[in-house]
Amino acid sequence: MSSPLEILILAAGKGTRMRSDLPKVLHNLAGKPLLGHLVDAAHSLGAAQIAVVYGFGGDAVPRAMADDKLTFVLQAEQKGTGHAVQQALPSLKQDGVVLVLYGDVPLTRVATLQPLVAAAQAGRLGLLTVLLADPTGYGRIVRVDGKVTRIVEHKDADDAERAIREVNTGILALPAAQLKSWIGRLNNNNAQGEYYLTDIIAMAVADGVAIETHQPAHEWEVLGVNSKAQLAELERIHQGEIARALLDAGVTLADPARLDVRGTLVCGRDVSIDVNCVFEGHVELGDDVQVGASCVLRNVTVAAGTRLDAFTLADDATIGEANRIGPFSRIRPGTTLARDVHVGNFVEIKNSQIDDGSKINHLSYVGDTTMGKKVNIGAGTITCNYDGANKHRTVIEDEVFVGSDTQLVAPVTVGKGATLGAGTTLTCDAPAGELTLSRAKQTTIAGWKRPTKR
Ligand code: UD1
Ligand code: CA
Repeated sequence: MSSPLEILILAAGKGTRMRSDLPKVLHNLAGKPLLGHLVDAAHSLGAAQIAVVYGFGGDAVPRAMADDKLTFVLQAEQKGTGHAVQQALPSLKQDGVVLVLYGDVPLTRVATLQPLVAAAQAGRLGLLTVLLADPTGYGRIVRVDGKVTRIVEHKDADDAERAIREVNTGILALPAAQLKSWIGRLNNNNAQGEYYLTDIIAMAVADGVAIETHQPAHEWEVLGVNSKAQLAELERIHQGEIARALLDAGVTLADPARLDVRGTLVCGRDVSIDVNCVFEGHVELGDDVQVGASCVLRNVTVAAGTRLDAFTLADDATIGEANRIGPFSRIRPGTTLARDVHVGNFVEIKNSQIDDGSKINHLSYVGDTTMGKKVNIGAGTITCNYDGANKHRTVIEDEVFVGSDTQLVAPVTVGKGATLGAGTTLTCDAPAGELTLSRAKQTTIAGWKRPTKR
């Protein structure tokens, strides 16, 4: 049986170079705080406990991540990575193995962390290292006859050590009992006057604990965020990976470099996505769905065969099969579109159910409405759902024809097969099968002249 895994996320650093009042680890990457990416990875690894060491920004970090069942440890003064770990150790309950992660390194893959955890389970110290073309600033991995003997920080290293290109990523895993014994023996006699977590490597070697090094499959997995430029760089790398996975799954992307997925995007077969689309939360696109340029979809499902034309915005909605939506349509929360529905330009639909074959093609607002099958809504139709205090529903039954520029003052019902004349302001129910209109009689004033300028 393997011992329980506890994950320690170091996140007390100030992040000065972000030039922001928000703690660094709360800045978003792909729509989620950096820390959120680590927490996801920690859960995937099966962590029994996740402890976050925080410092800068008051209780902003615990407040932002309150729902994630994390243990928060305040490191009031940042005296180094070793000191940070020391603050957290009393909160670790299990005495199993500990994996240390950095809160500002968001993209490490679970598959990269697993071998480190496995090393710790076997009583060794698993250390993630990477070979860098330019190792400036990093702790260097010192090896003798191929075996790691210690880590020397850049500021403490001599010229020969600075020439070493294998560096410490900071990510390591080891048995909790050993971590506890070594951490108490750290001192701050070094160039930065800090308690270095990296000093435990030499202690492990002295105690005969084997050091097992692993490397990430990609260098970006261990890149940290210290500035907005680096954050933007990692965002593009991450989006590139998402795009590649979609392409591998058979999705057509007009340009993989112009796609943003901030959450999960699940696609059926033969889905195509034009440039500059943004997907947020959980989005599902069925078979043969086509998404036009610059669409923004958040928590939406789109069924098979539907086409979303350019600049369609949809939020918390269910879009059925074989629909034609857009360009410039806005589908707001609580909306369900059934089959073969057409929604055209400058149409806003909110909290409404639209049944099969209905069409709202131009310049309309449909809110809090239940619409039957094969309804035709003329251009410029508005449901007046709000009386200034309360919202009311509009019911439009099957096969209704609504003339252009009509206002339906809710609550109101239009019976099956009714026709509303253009320009009607409907304040009472319209009976089924009849023509209803409210309109001043057209008159012509013979001989009327336009005023002339004096
Ligand atoms: C550290 C490593 C170095 C490694 C590098 C990789 C040490 C002594 N050095 O250096 O070998 O190559 O990371 O990026 O460990 N933190 C705290 N409290 C503190 C100090 C740091 O929580 O008192 C957190 C930071 O928020 C950050 C992480 O620990 O998430 C690393 O801190 P940072 O200052 O970036 O470490 P480096 O000195 O760059
Ligand atoms: Ca660093």
